[in-house]
Amino acid sequence: MKVASDAEKLRAEGADVVDFGAGEPDFPTPDNIKQAAVRAIEQNFTKYTPAGGTAELKRAVCERHTQDFGTAYKPEECIITVGGKHGVFGLVQALVNPGDEVVIPVPYWVTYKDVVNYAGGKCVFVDTDEDKGFVFTASMIEQRLTEQTKLMIINSPSNPSGAVLDRAEFEKILRLASDRGIYLMTDECYCHFLYDSDPFSIASAPNSKQTVVVAGSLSKTYAMTGWRIGFVLAPSSIIGAMNKLQSHSTSNPTSIAQKAAVEALRGPQESVAAMLAEYRKRRDFVVQRLRAIPGVKCAEPRGAFYAYPNIGVALGKSGIQDTLQFAELLLAESKVAVVPGEAFGTNQHVRISYATSMHELERGLERLDQFIRKYS
Ligand SMILES: Cc1ncc(COP(=O)(O)O)c(C=O)c1O
Repeated sequence: MKVASDAEKLRAEGADVVDFGAGEPDFPTPDNIKQAAVRAIEQNFTKYTPAGGTAELKRAVCERHTQDFGTAYKPEECIITVGGKHGVFGLVQALVNPGDEVVIPVPYWVTYKDVVNYAGGKCVFVDTDEDKGFVFTASMIEQRLTEQTKLMIINSPSNPSGAVLDRAEFEKILRLASDRGIYLMTDECYCHFLYDSDPFSIASAPNSKQTVVVAGSLSKTYAMTGWRIGFVLAPSSIIGAMNKLQSHSTSNPTSIAQKAAVEALRGPQESVAAMLAEYRKRRDFVVQRLRAIPGVKCAEPRGAFYAYPNIGVALGKSGIQDTLQFAELLLAESKVAVVPGEAFGTNQHVRISYATSMHELERGLERLDQFIRKYS
């Protein structure tokens, strides 16, 4: 957040900042989705809806999940949330009691740690192997399970590493969880953005319904970050608990955005494949460009739209102590915004979002190259 606000300040002063910080698609929301929102306003669909979302949108979410992944959720096993983040928050508050342990692979999306802490839970981190693309295995997770473990949080593809868990390993992790009565949260925020495998949901595994809870979002899939629509699929008792929390906090997600979301889920899906094709080109460019910088390692992201290079070569010399300082100096001197890896639980990386144009990627990575050469 600090780097983002510093970048904003510099831009306001007229500086030519290349922004690799933003975790959102650079594409506009598809027109059919925008038009559905316009129609909602014109038809005065502008009042309260049920706190947990409209029946129409819950049905649309369940149907799309069935169509994409072969699951069989019913509307009473679904809640519509104010973005995916709100779904993760509600789920963790509903499931985690003080003292409960939550297993989270590293690097992790920043929010997990804070929402677990907020619920009074204890994060138990699982280290992953950078040389194997930051993947983790069921046996690595198993070693961290205790009597207190309540929940595992898996995000595949991962923000920030782009690591993808393959189906067989995911199923082993599911078995670990179900054998011990532990919940498995699958954060499917980037599930449609996979480069060399087909999308799947662990919620489609047989007998997984009492164990798996799905956190989903329309933000990235349909370039709808500002509309704030996410969802959770889970046993109806958990949905009921989340509904109570939501009805006394946010109430319903915006009625107009819910109508737009129905169109996103039921309308043409071509925009998703078009975005993926563009991200793939950028991924290929970014990885080879980063690897061309002397001393920089970069695991190949297999999904999402982030690269997570190891810039350790520039740390510890010339006064740069950690990745936060690296990011601050990179922004101040070279006008490139990246997110320091400390935010995601590692200490030699920065996150680069390639949800930006090729032109910006070329410019920004050239500046990063010069900067790292200077400081290493
Ligand atoms: C891993 C992950 N999960 C969930 C979200 C939630 O996104 P939103 O709240 O915009 O739906 C994000 C957003 O960056 C994310 O990276």
